[in-house]
Amino acid sequence: MSSNQAAWLDAKEIALRVGPAEMPVPQPNEIIVKNKAVAINPLDWHMQDWGVFIQQWPTIFGCDVAGEVHQVGANVTQFKPGDRVVAHTINLVTGKPQDGAFALYTAVPANKTAILPASVAFESAVVLPLAIEAAACALLKATAGEAMPGVPTPALGLAQPSLVPKPIGKTLVVYGGSSSVGVMTIQLAVACGLKVVTTASPKNFDLCKGIGASSVFDYRDADIVDKIAAACKEDGSFVGIVDAISTPETYKHDLEILSKLGGGHLACTHPPPTEDVPDSVKAGMIFAVDEVADPIWANFITPALENGTLKCLPAPEIVGNGLEHIQEALDKSKAGVSATKLIVTL
Ligand SMILES: NC(=O)c1ccc[n+]([C@@H]2O[C@H](COP(=O)([O-])OP(=O)(O)OC[C@H]3O[C@@H](n4cnc5c(N)ncnc54)[C@H](OP(=O)(O)O)[C@@H]3O)[C@@H](O)[C@H]2O)c1
Repeated sequence: MSSNQAAWLDAKEIALRVGPAEMPVPQPNEIIVKNKAVAINPLDWHMQDWGVFIQQWPTIFGCDVAGEVHQVGANVTQFKPGDRVVAHTINLVTGKPQDGAFALYTAVPANKTAILPASVAFESAVVLPLAIEAAACALLKATAGEAMPGVPTPALGLAQPSLVPKPIGKTLVVYGGSSSVGVMTIQLAVACGLKVVTTASPKNFDLCKGIGASSVFDYRDADIVDKIAAACKEDGSFVGIVDAISTPETYKHDLEILSKLGGGHLACTHPPPTEDVPDSVKAGMIFAVDEVADPIWANFITPALENGTLKCLPAPEIVGNGLEHIQEALDKSKAGVSATKLIVTL
């Protein structure tokens, strides 16, 4: 008989407490994953510090799991116990503790789960889920919904990524190409056939080029706006910017670039700028639990990992083994990382 443990958050602004948790029971269309690795996202310490998105206390949170299928619910035919999988949890939406990643066992939707090729380790694969979901939302949504009341989601409306990408004559700027969201957005955009221009620190230029960015610029360069605009102007195919960082400083650059290039889409990871935004700029905020990503989970992730179209980057850094290391990993994430996904093995 299996028993569960979790890293509980009892109230905001306090450290996680590792303790017993009920064994999750799969609802129809759900899978129970026995977690082998979980990843840390900046959102997690935002939740811990500010209590955002938490619907009940105490709670179990966390977005990214990789592990073995323990049990499947009704209607789940594509997965079976023992399968090696990577999955995106939806505790952000449901608020249910059993849907949070920071536990030995987690309930995940079957439509946010993909089989791992034998060659891909759990520790590698767990860098994917939230970032993939964010990238899909940034690139693929055809009609804007609402990320939060009154805040539209972006609607760039690209076709699904391909395992054999062909250029479609469009250019996208990914601001913050070495972040987790940036790396995944570059990869999906390239798989959608886009030319990608991006920003990063010079030490991360090779990472960005290695996943298909055409050009990379240092965001600390005083001429960054002119250089990006020039790189995008070359063939007049600019469609917009995905800003993975989304701070006042990056918004200033975004709006200057968009102004030089005649406008376009601006997909943000936080609420978009509201001041000095011309009508030619269509700004929205990504919400990284969206059905637009479901076809990517069903049709893209497994074969794309197999054929190398999708790489498990940025590289994982294992903070420790065991739920008691999750707090340490959250603290490290809050201190800031460069081209790294912090993970904890279980
Ligand atoms: N709305 C949503 O659904 C959603 C989903 C996921 C994430 N997010 C948010 O998106 C943001 C990014 O998340 P993440 O996990 O991708 O972050 P991350 O990987 O922790 O970000 C670290 C990276 O940010 C880069 N960076 C920092 N400041 C930058 C700047 N001014 N310009 C360009 N790059 C810069 C660094 O690049 P260098 O080391 O190369 O300097 C570093 O590699 C977070 O604020 C997160 O909360 C939102």
